[in-house]
Amino acid sequence: MSNFDIIIFVEDTNMKIIVTNNYEEASLEAFKVMKEIVANKPNAVLGLATGSTPLGLYKNMIEDHKTNGTSYKDITTFNLDEYVGLDRNHRESYYTFMHTNLFSGLDILEENVHLPFGNTQADCDAYEKAMEDYQVDVQLLGIGGNGHIGFNEPGTPFEKTTNIVELQERTRTDNARFFDNDINQVPTHAITMGIATIMKANKVLLVATGENKADAVKAMIEGVPSVDCPASALQNHKDVVVILDTAAASKLTK
Ligand code: F6R
Repeated sequence: MSNFDIIIFVEDTNMKIIVTNNYEEASLEAFKVMKEIVANKPNAVLGLATGSTPLGLYKNMIEDHKTNGTSYKDITTFNLDEYVGLDRNHRESYYTFMHTNLFSGLDILEENVHLPFGNTQADCDAYEKAMEDYQVDVQLLGIGGNGHIGFNEPGTPFEKTTNIVELQERTRTDNARFFDNDINQVPTHAITMGIATIMKANKVLLVATGENKADAVKAMIEGVPSVDCPASALQNHKDVVVILDTAAASKLTK
């Protein structure tokens, strides 16, 4: 950690907030948390996320694997979510994203990799069932500009397990950058772990950088827990590390 990082423990919660100077430092701090878990438990179960936020962390994990030989051969992963209606091999599917940006750079075994897929309740139940045999050691999360975690949009009851959701316009607009900036190409639905599924993890590691996350970060940490900000459910989790840059932390007042 650099000398400039600020660490805050949020009163009445088990949230530890680390404020770094920029995206690179945030990615490095996230890597340290991940590395400690993988190094201490070679058969750890990792809950993983997609999006822009984890790319720096994933680069660090690959570099560490290549340089230091940290092995993932006994690691199991479960991803948070996937678009409905995209073929797994579509360039913007989360399946493709994970293989391109992380799995192809590690020695992880394909049979230990899990991503939700499908568009029915039976598909959701099958994913929950697959997770029942495991205990997630750390769940990595990003946060949506509207406070979503996974694809649990504002209004989602905290009790939900894996389910099919309709994506809100803000989320589809935010993600249009991956679809030729054309919102019409962005799927309208996704399959996602529910908030109750996420809360089962032993530890949550949430990373947020950039000014467009500042309102959501404030509501997550300082707001009264409410379905208006799905990430605020994390105030009730037993072990949460939130890693921010100064822009994402800029609206915190307490
Ligand atoms: C991704 C996911 C989403 C993203 C969130 C932030 O698997 O579940 O909740 O974490 O939309 O996305 P980025 O990192 O692209 O800003």
